[in-house]
Amino acid sequence: MQFKKIQIRNKGNVTQEMNLTFVCFLVVEDDCPYQPPVMCHHNGPSLCFLIPEFWGDIANDFYWKSKHTGQFMDYNFDVTKGEIYIKCMEGATTNICYNVLDCNVHERGLGDKVAFYWEGNEPGDEMTVTYRELLQQVCQFANVLKSQGVKKGDRVSIYMPMVVELVVAMLACVRIGAVHSIVFAGFSAESLCERILDSQCSLLITADGFYRGDKLINLKVIADDALQKCRDKSFPVQRCIMLKHLSKEVEVPWNPEVDQCWLSLLSGVSEECEPEWCDSEDPLFILYTSGSTGKPKGVLHTIGGYMLYVATTFKLVFDYHPEDVYWCTADIGWITGHSYITYGPLANGATSVLFEGLPTYPDVSRMWEIVDKYQVTKFYTAPTAIRLLMKYGSEPVQKYKRDSLKVLGTVGEPINPEAWQWYYSVVGEKRCPVVDTFWQTETGGHVLTPLPAATPMKPGSATFPFFGVVPAILNESGEELEGPSEGYLVFKQPWPGVMRTVFGNHQRFETTYFEQFPGYYVTGDGCCRDKDGYYWITGRIDDMLNVSGHLLSTAEVESALVEHEAVVEAAVVSRPHPVKGESLYCFVTLTEGVSFSRTLEAQLKKQVREKIGAIATPDFIQNAPGLPKTRSGKIMRRVLRKIARNERDLGDVSTLADSSVIELLFQNHCCGAM
Ligand code: WTA
Repeated sequence: MQFKKIQIRNKGNVTQEMNLTFVCFLVVEDDCPYQPPVMCHHNGPSLCFLIPEFWGDIANDFYWKSKHTGQFMDYNFDVTKGEIYIKCMEGATTNICYNVLDCNVHERGLGDKVAFYWEGNEPGDEMTVTYRELLQQVCQFANVLKSQGVKKGDRVSIYMPMVVELVVAMLACVRIGAVHSIVFAGFSAESLCERILDSQCSLLITADGFYRGDKLINLKVIADDALQKCRDKSFPVQRCIMLKHLSKEVEVPWNPEVDQCWLSLLSGVSEECEPEWCDSEDPLFILYTSGSTGKPKGVLHTIGGYMLYVATTFKLVFDYHPEDVYWCTADIGWITGHSYITYGPLANGATSVLFEGLPTYPDVSRMWEIVDKYQVTKFYTAPTAIRLLMKYGSEPVQKYKRDSLKVLGTVGEPINPEAWQWYYSVVGEKRCPVVDTFWQTETGGHVLTPLPAATPMKPGSATFPFFGVVPAILNESGEELEGPSEGYLVFKQPWPGVMRTVFGNHQRFETTYFEQFPGYYVTGDGCCRDKDGYYWITGRIDDMLNVSGHLLSTAEVESALVEHEAVVEAAVVSRPHPVKGESLYCFVTLTEGVSFSRTLEAQLKKQVREKIGAIATPDFIQNAPGLPKTRSGKIMRRVLRKIARNERDLGDVSTLADSSVIELLFQNHCCGAM
């Protein structure tokens, strides 16, 4: 075996023009028939990629208190051979907070470099924090957590707006070996309670409130409600720390036995805190994602592999350079924020924008104003935001220069070619490659993605696997399809950043991802591969919906609907939406004697919002005196999807128990043809 250095670059001089200078070291067998450089990304890595050498080389750039003892990576991906497990660098000890902060400040001389430009909801509300300041704040807060009794392995729930203190809270947890479980601040009290109970959190960190555009969200009120719900279920959370974020005084409920104020806890606390050295395979965080049974799954990531993976994907997929100003518009409450606002950028010593507000407040130029203000070079957003802004045309974009932009990224759902073209042509003025990154909460980081300017783009395709990721497309019987094909997207081997388990329920981890097709990790997405080997995600093929890039399970919304006394049965399907991608179309069968009304419709929408959160608010609710079912009683969702779209070509409905319900459903339809 010999070590070879491979440069990833585009054909000829385009590389120079794009200022693409990154070099990636791949290790290949002497006799590996690797192709010209760009091909390495297409199919080379899966042919000749050697995990331990590639990732081992990358691991050398990180700080390990002690070396790993066993194999670099060890795994079983096949349920028929025993328990599923994935281990990366087991036995090595490290601390991710130490790597992303102390190393940058003390070893790489980045103490005075800006870590975050915080831009508040209100223009003019701004703040800058350097790596040194961030380290001080994290150490101080880590000491606070310790004084509150938080220990290694304890779970801490974080329910906060997009403020620097959210990053401080998460890094303070991991500095002392605690496991954070961040709950997106748009989730309801019930959702927060459910997540606190499932992960058995000993402490909750929240804020008084925040503004989303001109709307005040009283976060502490919701948090209190959640804590009360936890007490009702015999799980009293002992401590709650509240950050005062709002500039004006708002009245917040206060429970002196539990609540403490962030600021007052800091007084007199040391700014030095020795990190807790943890095993590479110790838990790092839990993040809940919708599950098709309705109950969210606590996706668990561990320290070492996740750190290597998000750092490397950030560096290569955004072609990171030290002078970059990077901006990811996601919320840290989702995986995109975990991996590509906090851990990936900080591991690279990058400067990022951390934005609290909305793309449309105070007006629809806000994003581009921010791009110019901070001279953003790498920009990462979601198709739903692009489609939303596209509606207003190019004028609000062209009010700002945007000449600093170099790479544009997208994530969260398939991007339709029109939105891609608008992003590429209007926002990026055809100068900036678009990286359409496909990945999941479970994958930890990008798994199918172009490398900017190195991978020829096709609008709407996430192109090719990242190094070491080996996708396959299976048919219904689990056979691997070759060449151009369509079927289930699966992965054949792990990469360092893949999830390790569902918190507290390893069985569910195996059932959800590994049982349907033994030997593979099943993504739940459908996928097409074209004649050039490009991958095209076609969307979820399980009972999941993707609304504005957020996954929701139909079962979760259905159970919120049937909790209403007027509803006996509910079935939720997706209906395409021009901005949100998909919208929620709900069929409800009412209790005998109850009639459908606007008031009931409003009540049901409110019910779902309160049970789950605003993102799950139904778009349409239709009265369904009967639902199309098979003789065995299974709801035919395929038929409901057609009805929701007002499409009459229902295909084969011979298995329907009672076909008369169909006509009635078309008559009660909420809206016209699409
Ligand atoms: C979808 C978000 C097409 C997909 C990082 C996946 C995408 C789910 C893309 C995961 C993309 C994400 N193209 N579909 N570029 N990115 N998805 O867990 O259905 O919130 O399974 O993670 O979003 O959503 P999650």
